[in-house]
Amino acid sequence: MPRAHTKYVCQQCGGQYPSAYGRCPSCGAWNSLVETLDRPEAQPRRVAGVPNGSAPPMPLAHVESVAHKRLQLPLEEINRVLGGGVVPGSLVLLGGEPGIGKSTLLLQVSNLAAQHFGTVLYATGEESPEQVKLRADRLGSIAAELHILAETDIDIIIGHASQMHPALLIVDSIQTMQTSDLESAAGSVGQVRESTSRLAKLAKREGVATFLVGHVTKEGNIAGPKVLEHMVDTVLYLEGDRFHAYRLLRSVKNRFGATHEVGVFDMQDNGMAEVSNPSAAFLAEREANSAGSVVAVTLEGTRPLLVELQALVTPTHFGLPRRTANGIDMNRLILLTAVLSRRAGLPLATQDVYVNVAGGMRLTETSWDLAAALAIASSFTDTPLNETAVIGEVGLGGEVRSVNQIRRRVGEALKLGFERCIVPRRSLTELRGEEGDSIIGVGTLQEALSVTGCRPS
Ligand code: TYD
Ligand code: MG
Repeated sequence: MPRAHTKYVCQQCGGQYPSAYGRCPSCGAWNSLVETLDRPEAQPRRVAGVPNGSAPPMPLAHVESVAHKRLQLPLEEINRVLGGGVVPGSLVLLGGEPGIGKSTLLLQVSNLAAQHFGTVLYATGEESPEQVKLRADRLGSIAAELHILAETDIDIIIGHASQMHPALLIVDSIQTMQTSDLESAAGSVGQVRESTSRLAKLAKREGVATFLVGHVTKEGNIAGPKVLEHMVDTVLYLEGDRFHAYRLLRSVKNRFGATHEVGVFDMQDNGMAEVSNPSAAFLAEREANSAGSVVAVTLEGTRPLLVELQALVTPTHFGLPRRTANGIDMNRLILLTAVLSRRAGLPLATQDVYVNVAGGMRLTETSWDLAAALAIASSFTDTPLNETAVIGEVGLGGEVRSVNQIRRRVGEALKLGFERCIVPRRSLTELRGEEGDSIIGVGTLQEALSVTGCRPS
Protein backbone atom coordinates (compact mmCIF):
# COMPACT_ATOMS: atom_id res chain seq x y z
CA MET A 1 0.00 0.00 0.00
CA PRO A 2 1.52 3.38 -0.87
CA ARG A 3 2.30 5.57 2.06
CA ALA A 4 -0.38 8.20 2.49
CA HIS A 5 0.79 11.71 1.98
CA THR A 6 1.51 13.63 5.16
CA LYS A 7 1.93 17.27 6.02
CA TYR A 8 3.23 19.20 9.02
CA VAL A 9 0.75 21.47 10.76
CA CYS A 10 1.71 24.22 13.20
CA GLN A 11 -0.29 23.86 16.43
CA GLN A 12 0.05 27.59 17.06
CA CYS A 13 -0.91 29.27 13.79
CA GLY A 14 -2.29 26.40 11.69
CA GLY A 15 0.35 26.87 8.98
CA GLN A 16 0.88 23.76 6.79
CA TYR A 17 4.22 22.61 5.34
CA PRO A 18 5.35 19.59 3.31
CA SER A 19 8.30 18.92 5.63
CA ALA A 20 9.27 19.38 9.27
CA TYR A 21 10.92 22.51 10.70
CA GLY A 22 12.11 23.10 14.24
CA ARG A 23 10.55 26.52 14.08
CA CYS A 24 7.35 27.51 12.28
CA PRO A 25 8.32 29.68 9.27
CA SER A 26 5.25 31.89 9.60
CA CYS A 27 4.60 32.42 13.32
CA GLY A 28 8.07 31.60 14.67
CA ALA A 29 6.88 29.14 17.37
CA TRP A 30 9.41 26.46 18.31
CA ASN A 31 8.61 22.71 18.08
CA SER A 32 5.02 23.41 17.13
CA LEU A 33 4.83 21.35 13.90
CA VAL A 34 2.96 18.05 14.15
CA GLU A 35 2.92 15.41 11.43
CA THR A 36 -0.65 14.94 10.20
CA LEU A 37 -2.27 12.87 7.47
CA ASP A 38 -3.04 14.95 4.40
CA ARG A 39 -6.63 13.87 3.84
CA PRO A 40 -8.28 14.87 0.57
CA GLU A 41 -10.32 18.02 0.90
CA ALA A 42 -13.92 17.44 1.82
CA GLN A 43 -16.52 17.48 -0.97
CA PRO A 44 -17.77 20.96 -1.80
CA ARG A 45 -20.65 21.74 0.52
CA ARG A 46 -24.10 21.19 -0.96
CA VAL A 47 -26.82 23.72 -0.51
CA ALA A 48 -29.35 21.22 0.80
CA GLY A 49 -30.17 17.53 0.71
CA VAL A 50 -29.50 14.44 2.76
CA PRO A 51 -26.96 11.90 1.46
CA ASN A 52 -28.25 8.36 1.07
CA GLY A 53 -27.79 6.12 4.07
CA SER A 54 -27.30 8.88 6.65
CA ALA A 55 -29.22 8.40 9.88
CA PRO A 56 -32.23 10.70 10.26
CA PRO A 57 -32.82 12.71 13.46
CA MET A 58 -34.94 10.80 15.95
CA PRO A 59 -36.86 11.66 19.11
CA LEU A 60 -34.41 11.62 22.01
CA ALA A 61 -36.91 9.67 24.07
CA HIS A 62 -36.64 6.77 21.59
CA VAL A 63 -32.88 6.45 21.92
CA GLU A 64 -31.92 3.33 23.85
CA SER A 65 -30.29 3.98 27.25
CA VAL A 66 -26.74 2.74 27.73
CA ALA A 67 -27.70 1.61 31.23
CA HIS A 68 -29.24 -1.53 29.71
CA LYS A 69 -26.09 -2.47 27.87
CA ARG A 70 -23.34 -1.94 30.42
CA LEU A 71 -21.06 -4.87 31.13
CA GLN A 72 -21.07 -5.41 34.87
CA LEU A 73 -17.66 -6.66 35.96
CA PRO A 74 -17.43 -8.62 39.17
CA LEU A 75 -15.17 -5.78 40.37
CA GLU A 76 -17.51 -3.28 42.00
CA GLU A 77 -14.82 -0.63 42.42
CA ILE A 78 -14.30 -0.46 38.64
CA ASN A 79 -18.02 -0.46 37.88
CA ARG A 80 -18.49 2.41 40.30
CA VAL A 81 -15.77 4.56 38.76
CA LEU A 82 -17.11 3.94 35.25
CA GLY A 83 -20.59 4.97 36.35
CA GLY A 84 -22.13 1.49 36.68
CA GLY A 85 -20.16 -0.80 34.38
CA VAL A 86 -18.22 -0.86 31.10
CA VAL A 87 -20.10 0.75 28.20
CA PRO A 88 -19.70 -1.16 24.90
CA GLY A 89 -18.19 1.08 22.22
CA SER A 90 -16.65 3.44 24.76
CA LEU A 91 -13.02 4.54 24.79
CA VAL A 92 -11.41 4.75 28.23
CA LEU A 93 -7.98 6.23 28.91
CA LEU A 94 -6.16 5.02 32.04
CA GLY A 95 -3.26 7.20 33.14
CA GLY A 96 -0.78 6.75 35.96
CA GLU A 97 2.87 6.76 36.92
CA PRO A 98 5.11 3.90 35.83
CA GLY A 99 4.86 0.89 38.12
CA ILE A 100 1.67 2.03 39.82
CA GLY A 101 -0.26 -1.00 38.54
CA LYS A 102 -2.06 0.01 35.32
CA SER A 103 -1.11 -3.15 33.44
CA THR A 104 -1.91 -5.31 36.46
CA LEU A 105 -5.35 -3.78 36.90
CA LEU A 106 -6.23 -4.02 33.20
CA LEU A 107 -5.02 -7.61 32.99
CA GLN A 108 -7.33 -8.45 35.88
CA VAL A 109 -10.19 -6.63 34.18
CA SER A 110 -9.42 -8.50 30.92
CA ASN A 111 -9.41 -11.84 32.66
CA LEU A 112 -12.75 -11.18 34.36
CA ALA A 113 -14.29 -9.83 31.16
CA ALA A 114 -13.08 -12.92 29.28
CA GLN A 115 -14.72 -15.15 31.88
CA HIS A 116 -18.05 -13.35 31.72
CA PHE A 117 -18.46 -11.62 28.36
CA GLY A 118 -16.44 -13.55 25.77
CA THR A 119 -13.34 -12.72 23.74
CA VAL A 120 -10.90 -10.15 25.06
CA LEU A 121 -7.87 -8.87 23.13
CA TYR A 122 -4.96 -7.48 25.17
CA ALA A 123 -2.56 -5.71 22.81
CA THR A 124 0.75 -4.75 24.36
CA GLY A 125 3.53 -2.70 22.88
CA GLU A 126 5.51 -2.67 26.10
CA GLU A 127 5.99 -6.29 27.05
CA SER A 128 6.41 -9.69 25.43
CA PRO A 129 3.65 -12.31 25.74
CA GLU A 130 5.94 -14.17 28.17
CA GLN A 131 6.17 -11.15 30.45
CA VAL A 132 2.42 -10.74 30.43
CA LYS A 133 2.03 -14.45 31.15
CA LEU A 134 4.31 -14.11 34.17
CA ARG A 135 2.08 -11.38 35.53
CA ALA A 136 -1.07 -13.33 34.70
CA ASP A 137 0.27 -16.35 36.59
CA ARG A 138 0.48 -14.23 39.72
CA LEU A 139 -3.13 -13.21 39.28
CA GLY A 140 -4.47 -16.77 39.29
CA SER A 141 -6.40 -18.73 36.69
CA ILE A 142 -6.37 -17.41 33.12
CA ALA A 143 -9.61 -17.38 31.12
CA ALA A 144 -9.58 -19.30 27.83
CA GLU A 145 -11.06 -16.32 25.97
CA LEU A 146 -8.23 -13.94 26.91
CA HIS A 147 -5.96 -13.34 23.90
CA ILE A 148 -2.64 -11.53 23.90
CA LEU A 149 -1.01 -9.72 21.00
CA ALA A 150 2.46 -8.17 21.25
CA GLU A 151 2.32 -5.50 18.54
CA THR A 152 3.02 -1.81 18.12
CA ASP A 153 1.41 -1.30 14.69
CA ILE A 154 -2.02 0.09 15.48
CA ASP A 155 -3.42 -0.93 12.07
CA ILE A 156 -2.51 -4.58 12.67
CA ILE A 157 -4.16 -4.44 16.11
CA ILE A 158 -7.28 -2.90 14.62
CA GLY A 159 -7.25 -5.53 11.86
CA HIS A 160 -7.19 -8.36 14.39
CA ALA A 161 -9.84 -6.70 16.55
CA SER A 162 -12.15 -6.29 13.54
CA GLN A 163 -11.88 -10.02 12.85
CA MET A 164 -12.20 -11.21 16.45
CA HIS A 165 -15.05 -8.90 17.56
CA PRO A 166 -13.82 -8.84 21.16
CA ALA A 167 -16.05 -7.62 23.97
CA LEU A 168 -13.06 -5.73 25.31
CA LEU A 169 -9.85 -4.42 23.72
CA ILE A 170 -6.88 -3.24 25.79
CA VAL A 171 -4.07 -1.18 24.25
CA ASP A 172 -1.05 -0.96 26.56
CA SER A 173 0.19 1.73 26.00
CA ILE A 174 -0.97 4.34 23.48
CA GLN A 175 2.51 5.92 23.48
CA THR A 176 4.06 2.74 22.02
CA MET A 177 1.57 2.54 19.14
CA GLN A 178 2.19 3.82 15.63
CA THR A 179 0.80 3.75 12.13
CA SER A 180 3.12 3.42 9.14
CA ASP A 181 1.09 6.17 7.44
CA LEU A 182 3.03 8.71 9.49
CA GLU A 183 6.79 8.99 9.54
CA SER A 184 7.19 10.37 13.06
CA ALA A 185 8.24 8.10 15.91
CA ALA A 186 5.88 6.26 18.25
CA GLY A 187 4.89 8.49 21.16
CA SER A 188 4.97 11.69 19.09
CA VAL A 189 1.92 13.93 19.14
CA GLY A 190 0.94 12.99 15.59
CA GLN A 191 1.20 9.24 16.19
CA VAL A 192 -0.65 9.29 19.51
CA ARG A 193 -3.44 11.38 18.03
CA GLU A 194 -3.80 9.30 14.86
CA SER A 195 -3.69 5.95 16.75
CA THR A 196 -6.34 7.13 19.20
CA SER A 197 -8.56 8.42 16.44
CA ARG A 198 -8.37 5.06 14.62
CA LEU A 199 -9.18 3.20 17.83
CA ALA A 200 -12.12 5.52 18.48
CA LYS A 201 -13.53 4.72 15.05
CA LEU A 202 -13.11 0.99 15.69
CA ALA A 203 -14.77 1.25 19.10
CA LYS A 204 -17.82 3.04 17.71
CA ARG A 205 -18.07 0.92 14.56
CA GLU A 206 -17.74 -2.48 16.25
CA GLY A 207 -19.15 -1.56 19.65
CA VAL A 208 -16.01 -2.81 21.37
CA ALA A 209 -15.19 -1.31 24.74
CA THR A 210 -11.57 -0.12 24.54
CA PHE A 211 -9.15 0.73 27.34
CA LEU A 212 -5.96 2.67 26.53
CA VAL A 213 -3.05 2.93 28.91
CA GLY A 214 -1.47 6.38 28.92
CA HIS A 215 1.87 7.35 30.44
CA VAL A 216 2.03 10.46 32.56
CA THR A 217 4.60 13.23 32.37
CA LYS A 218 6.67 14.54 35.26
CA GLU A 219 3.91 17.05 35.94
CA GLY A 220 1.42 14.22 36.34
CA ASN A 221 -0.54 14.81 33.11
CA ILE A 222 -1.11 12.16 30.50
CA ALA A 223 1.77 12.42 28.03
CA GLY A 224 0.86 13.50 24.53
CA PRO A 225 -1.56 16.02 23.20
CA LYS A 226 -4.28 17.42 25.40
CA VAL A 227 -6.67 16.46 22.58
CA LEU A 228 -6.14 12.85 23.63
CA GLU A 229 -8.32 13.53 26.65
CA HIS A 230 -10.95 15.13 24.39
CA MET A 231 -10.99 12.19 22.01
CA VAL A 232 -11.86 9.57 24.61
CA ASP A 233 -15.12 9.12 26.53
CA THR A 234 -13.61 8.55 29.94
CA VAL A 235 -10.32 9.51 31.59
CA LEU A 236 -9.22 7.59 34.67
CA TYR A 237 -6.13 8.05 36.79
CA LEU A 238 -4.61 5.36 38.96
CA GLU A 239 -2.89 7.06 41.89
CA GLY A 240 -1.16 6.12 45.04
CA ASP A 241 2.11 6.19 46.80
CA ARG A 242 4.36 3.48 45.44
CA PHE A 243 5.53 2.71 48.95
CA HIS A 244 2.02 2.15 50.22
CA ALA A 245 -0.31 -0.57 49.08
CA TYR A 246 -3.40 1.56 48.48
CA ARG A 247 -4.31 2.64 44.96
CA LEU A 248 -7.04 5.11 44.08
CA LEU A 249 -8.75 4.89 40.73
CA ARG A 250 -10.20 8.30 40.01
CA SER A 251 -12.35 9.41 37.11
CA VAL A 252 -11.67 12.95 35.90
CA LYS A 253 -13.87 12.82 32.82
CA ASN A 254 -16.78 10.52 32.11
CA ARG A 255 -19.33 10.84 29.35
CA PHE A 256 -21.22 7.92 30.89
CA GLY A 257 -21.36 8.78 34.56
CA ALA A 258 -20.40 11.10 37.39
CA THR A 259 -16.81 12.32 37.57
CA HIS A 260 -14.60 12.38 40.63
CA GLU A 261 -15.76 8.93 41.67
CA VAL A 262 -13.05 6.81 43.24
CA GLY A 263 -12.39 3.14 43.51
CA VAL A 264 -9.99 1.94 46.19
CA PHE A 265 -7.67 -1.04 45.73
CA ASP A 266 -5.01 -2.72 47.74
CA MET A 267 -1.98 -3.88 45.69
CA GLN A 268 -1.24 -7.39 46.88
CA ASP A 269 1.04 -10.21 45.70
CA ASN A 270 -1.74 -11.63 43.57
CA GLY A 271 -2.95 -8.38 42.05
CA MET A 272 -5.28 -5.61 43.09
CA ALA A 273 -7.80 -6.45 45.77
CA GLU A 274 -10.92 -4.34 46.17
CA VAL A 275 -11.19 -2.34 49.37
CA SER A 276 -14.90 -2.07 49.93
CA ASN A 277 -14.58 -0.31 53.27
CA PRO A 278 -11.68 2.09 52.71
CA SER A 279 -12.34 4.20 55.81
CA ALA A 280 -11.83 1.20 58.07
CA ALA A 281 -8.71 0.27 56.11
CA PHE A 282 -7.20 3.77 56.33
CA LEU A 283 -7.78 3.85 60.08
CA ALA A 284 -6.67 0.28 60.78
CA GLU A 285 -3.26 1.25 62.12
CA ARG A 286 -4.40 4.18 64.20
CA GLU A 287 -3.20 4.12 67.80
CA ALA A 288 -5.60 5.01 70.59
CA ASN A 289 -4.53 7.73 73.02
CA SER A 290 -1.98 9.20 70.71
CA ALA A 291 -1.65 12.96 70.80
CA GLY A 292 -1.40 14.62 67.38
CA SER A 293 -3.65 12.12 65.60
CA VAL A 294 -7.03 13.35 64.37
CA VAL A 295 -9.53 11.74 62.01
CA ALA A 296 -10.80 13.86 59.11
CA VAL A 297 -13.63 13.03 56.72
CA THR A 298 -12.81 13.80 53.11
CA LEU A 299 -15.19 13.31 50.23
CA GLU A 300 -13.99 11.57 47.09
CA GLY A 301 -16.75 11.86 44.50
CA THR A 302 -19.87 10.84 46.32
CA ARG A 303 -17.90 8.74 48.73
CA PRO A 304 -16.90 9.88 52.22
CA LEU A 305 -13.53 8.58 53.39
CA LEU A 306 -12.16 8.72 56.91
CA VAL A 307 -8.44 9.39 57.05
CA GLU A 308 -6.00 9.89 59.88
CA LEU A 309 -4.05 13.16 60.00
CA GLN A 310 -0.95 13.12 62.16
CA ALA A 311 0.89 16.16 63.43
CA LEU A 312 4.11 16.47 65.33
CA VAL A 313 5.13 19.75 66.95
CA THR A 314 8.64 20.07 68.37
CA PRO A 315 10.69 23.09 69.47
CA THR A 316 12.84 24.63 66.75
CA HIS A 317 16.48 24.30 67.66
CA PHE A 318 18.02 26.87 65.42
CA GLY A 319 17.05 29.14 62.60
CA LEU A 320 13.66 29.23 60.99
CA PRO A 321 10.89 26.93 62.19
CA ARG A 322 10.23 24.08 59.79
CA ARG A 323 6.89 23.19 58.22
CA THR A 324 6.58 19.83 56.49
CA ALA A 325 3.44 18.55 54.77
CA ASN A 326 2.84 15.06 53.45
CA GLY A 327 -0.43 14.42 51.67
CA ILE A 328 -1.76 17.96 52.17
CA ASP A 329 -0.95 21.24 50.50
CA MET A 330 2.10 22.93 52.02
CA ASN A 331 0.71 26.45 51.61
CA ARG A 332 -2.46 25.41 53.39
CA LEU A 333 -0.35 24.11 56.30
CA ILE A 334 1.58 27.38 56.55
CA LEU A 335 -1.71 29.25 56.54
CA LEU A 336 -3.16 27.04 59.27
CA THR A 337 -0.14 27.46 61.53
CA ALA A 338 -0.38 31.23 61.07
CA VAL A 339 -4.07 31.21 61.98
CA LEU A 340 -3.39 28.98 65.00
CA SER A 341 -0.70 31.38 66.26
CA ARG A 342 -2.60 34.56 65.66
CA ARG A 343 -6.22 33.58 66.43
CA ALA A 344 -5.88 30.77 68.93
CA GLY A 345 -2.77 31.80 70.82
CA LEU A 346 -0.64 28.77 69.96
CA PRO A 347 3.01 29.96 69.99
CA LEU A 348 4.09 28.11 66.85
CA ALA A 349 6.72 30.65 65.76
CA THR A 350 9.32 28.74 67.75
CA GLN A 351 8.05 25.25 66.85
CA ASP A 352 8.66 22.89 63.93
CA VAL A 353 5.39 21.47 62.58
CA TYR A 354 5.12 18.22 60.62
CA VAL A 355 1.80 17.00 59.23
CA ASN A 356 1.26 13.66 57.55
CA VAL A 357 -1.74 11.83 56.09
CA ALA A 358 -1.52 8.18 57.12
CA GLY A 359 -1.72 5.51 54.41
CA GLY A 360 -0.31 7.64 51.57
CA MET A 361 -3.60 9.41 50.77
CA ARG A 362 -3.49 12.85 49.20
CA LEU A 363 -6.20 15.25 50.39
CA THR A 364 -7.42 17.81 47.90
CA GLU A 365 -10.42 19.64 49.34
CA THR A 366 -10.35 21.90 52.42
CA SER A 367 -12.72 20.04 54.74
CA TRP A 368 -9.67 18.69 56.61
CA ASP A 369 -8.46 22.16 57.71
CA LEU A 370 -9.98 21.91 61.15
CA ALA A 371 -8.72 18.35 61.62
CA ALA A 372 -5.17 19.43 60.75
CA ALA A 373 -5.38 22.44 63.06
CA LEU A 374 -6.64 20.25 65.92
CA ALA A 375 -3.93 17.65 65.22
CA ILE A 376 -1.30 20.38 65.58
CA ALA A 377 -2.89 21.68 68.80
CA SER A 378 -3.29 18.14 70.10
CA SER A 379 0.40 17.43 69.55
CA PHE A 380 1.48 20.76 71.00
CA THR A 381 -0.58 20.31 74.20
CA ASP A 382 -0.08 16.53 74.35
CA THR A 383 -3.84 15.95 74.46
CA PRO A 384 -5.14 12.88 72.63
CA LEU A 385 -8.44 13.16 70.75
CA ASN A 386 -10.02 9.74 70.93
CA GLU A 387 -13.19 8.62 69.13
CA THR A 388 -13.59 11.99 67.46
CA ALA A 389 -14.00 12.81 63.78
CA VAL A 390 -13.39 16.42 62.74
CA ILE A 391 -14.90 18.22 59.75
CA GLY A 392 -14.57 21.88 58.77
CA GLU A 393 -12.72 24.49 56.76
CA VAL A 394 -10.77 27.19 58.60
CA GLY A 395 -10.81 30.83 57.45
CA LEU A 396 -8.11 33.44 58.01
CA GLY A 397 -10.15 34.98 60.85
CA GLY A 398 -10.06 31.70 62.73
CA GLU A 399 -13.70 31.04 61.84
CA VAL A 400 -14.82 27.49 61.09
CA ARG A 401 -16.60 27.38 57.73
CA SER A 402 -19.20 24.93 56.55
CA VAL A 403 -18.40 22.18 54.07
CA ASN A 404 -20.59 20.44 51.51
CA GLN A 405 -22.31 17.06 52.00
CA ILE A 406 -22.05 17.22 55.77
CA ARG A 407 -24.71 14.54 56.30
CA ARG A 408 -22.79 12.01 54.24
CA ARG A 409 -19.59 12.75 56.10
CA VAL A 410 -21.10 12.58 59.56
CA GLY A 411 -23.00 9.44 58.58
CA GLU A 412 -19.78 7.68 57.60
CA ALA A 413 -18.07 8.67 60.87
CA LEU A 414 -20.97 7.44 63.01
CA LYS A 415 -21.19 4.25 60.97
CA LEU A 416 -17.54 3.52 61.76
CA GLY A 417 -18.19 3.90 65.46
CA PHE A 418 -16.95 7.43 66.12
CA GLU A 419 -18.73 8.72 69.21
CA ARG A 420 -18.15 12.37 68.60
CA CYS A 421 -18.12 14.55 65.47
CA ILE A 422 -16.91 18.14 65.56
CA VAL A 423 -18.57 20.04 62.71
CA PRO A 424 -18.94 23.69 61.67
CA ARG A 425 -21.78 25.33 63.63
CA ARG A 426 -23.32 26.55 60.40
CA SER A 427 -23.69 22.98 59.20
CA LEU A 428 -25.86 22.03 62.19
CA THR A 429 -29.03 23.18 60.43
CA GLU A 430 -28.30 20.71 57.65
CA LEU A 431 -27.90 17.96 60.24
CA ARG A 432 -31.28 18.58 61.86
CA GLY A 433 -32.57 15.53 63.65
CA GLU A 434 -29.14 14.01 63.93
CA GLU A 435 -27.78 16.37 66.58
CA GLY A 436 -27.11 15.17 70.07
CA ASP A 437 -24.18 14.63 72.36
CA SER A 438 -22.36 13.02 69.51
CA ILE A 439 -22.42 16.05 67.18
CA ILE A 440 -20.78 19.27 68.35
CA GLY A 441 -20.96 22.46 66.32
CA VAL A 442 -18.10 24.98 66.61
CA GLY A 443 -17.97 28.50 65.20
CA THR A 444 -14.29 29.29 65.70
CA LEU A 445 -10.96 27.57 66.01
CA GLN A 446 -10.76 28.72 69.64
CA GLU A 447 -14.04 27.02 70.44
CA ALA A 448 -12.82 23.83 68.82
CA LEU A 449 -9.70 23.93 71.01
CA SER A 450 -11.83 24.42 74.14
CA VAL A 451 -14.23 21.60 73.29
CA THR A 452 -11.37 19.18 72.76
CA GLY A 453 -9.25 20.38 75.67
CA CYS A 454 -6.39 21.31 73.33
CA ARG A 455 -6.15 24.93 74.48
CA PRO A 456 -2.69 25.97 75.54
CA SER A 457 -2.62 26.88 79.24
P1 TYD B 1 2.42 -2.71 36.59
O1 TYD B 1 1.02 -3.15 36.46
O2 TYD B 1 3.40 -3.31 35.67
O3 TYD B 1 2.51 -1.13 36.52
P2 TYD B 1 2.32 -0.14 35.28
O4 TYD B 1 1.70 -0.88 34.16
O5 TYD B 1 1.42 0.95 35.84
O6 TYD B 1 3.66 0.41 34.96
O7 TYD B 1 2.82 -2.98 38.10
C1 TYD B 1 4.13 -3.00 38.47
C2 TYD B 1 4.34 -3.20 39.94
O8 TYD B 1 3.31 -3.90 40.59
C3 TYD B 1 5.56 -4.03 40.11
O9 TYD B 1 6.47 -3.25 40.88
C4 TYD B 1 5.16 -5.24 40.84
C5 TYD B 1 3.86 -4.92 41.42
N1 TYD B 1 2.91 -6.06 41.47
C6 TYD B 1 2.34 -6.44 42.66
O10 TYD B 1 2.61 -5.88 43.73
N2 TYD B 1 1.43 -7.48 42.69
C7 TYD B 1 1.08 -8.15 41.54
O11 TYD B 1 0.25 -9.07 41.59
C8 TYD B 1 1.68 -7.73 40.30
C9 TYD B 1 1.35 -8.43 39.03
C10 TYD B 1 2.59 -6.69 40.31
MG1 MG C 1 2.52 -1.34 32.28
